Amino acid sequence: MMQKGNALWMLALVSVLALYGCRAEEEPQPQRAVPVTQPAPELTPSKGTAENPWVVGMSQCNLGEPWRVQMNEDVRAAAEKQPGLEVVFKDASNDTQKQRAHVDEFLAQGVDLLIVSPKEAAPLTPPVRRVYEKGIPVVVLDRKILGDTYTCFIGADNVKIGYEAGKHIAETLLKGKGNVVELKGLMTSTPGQERNEGFRNAIKAHPDIKVIFEADCKWLEPNGRKEMESALARFDDIDVVYAHNDPQAHGAWIAAKAAGRENDIRFVGIDALTHEGVQYVQKGVLDATLQYPTGGVEAIDIALKILAGETVPKNITLGTRIFTTENVDQGGQSID
Ligand code: FRU
Repeated sequence: MMQKGNALWMLALVSVLALYGCRAEEEPQPQRAVPVTQPAPELTPSKGTAENPWVVGMSQCNLGEPWRVQMNEDVRAAAEKQPGLEVVFKDASNDTQKQRAHVDEFLAQGVDLLIVSPKEAAPLTPPVRRVYEKGIPVVVLDRKILGDTYTCFIGADNVKIGYEAGKHIAETLLKGKGNVVELKGLMTSTPGQERNEGFRNAIKAHPDIKVIFEADCKWLEPNGRKEMESALARFDDIDVVYAHNDPQAHGAWIAAKAAGRENDIRFVGIDALTHEGVQYVQKGVLDATLQYPTGGVEAIDIALKILAGETVPKNITLGTRIFTTENVDQGGQSID
């Protein structure tokens, strides 16, 4: 043991002397360029570069509707312009439990930032809170969670959109009198609640406007069609369908057409995708649609700011436009 120990000490001493020896040899010619023979120490490249990008988890509740496909597309296109950012997408296929698991998976993977467009407010709140409380920034897109355990919420003002839809229906389409069918979006999601609230506020001033039928269609076109079939069977006099999104409005129109009543009823929806709602207005299927921007581009912009250490606003409200049969060819009209 002693011998081995001594040998090690000798080796260490020789190495130190050799090192000093080298230094001493090189020291007299400091002005001579010394070729670098040793590789530079391997430093971890700083985060946010092409070699070591920030990893953003994007939890999408569903890709069954064109609007959500567009949201992911907007996120992807904006992220592609940023070499220092990589986005990992998960689609919960409209399953709340699956989306909760996705958010927990992103936390376990240690993403640098989470973007989440939650299906329902209450059940998604605890997993989002877990991410936020671990110090990972969270950008909530379009549908809200409960409370304020997130970094930034981005979305349009759904109360205002509902109000503007109600105003258009009450004043322009019905001139203060008529029967309305309200096909609501998923009422455990905040846009459904808020589009209902804004609409009801707008029609309050018109006692002769009656909501004669209402149903939760959960944002889905087939449900819009099915509920409209019930409404048509029960009521001979329907003037307007107010649907919380364009797929439901289109489903209702299909039901009305099948009953030969599509020309007696006017249809108003929300979303106004160029290749969906706006086209429905151009074709005369819908009378109006209100734009609901996806916020995908803004989410990437804000994510980059947060990752760069900038302070961002807690809430970012996106604007909206109304497209009607009168203004659709001029690109709709902005609502301030
Ligand atoms: C798509 C969608 C849109 C709607 C939004 C509300 O899933 O239903 O049509 O505007 O979600 O969150």
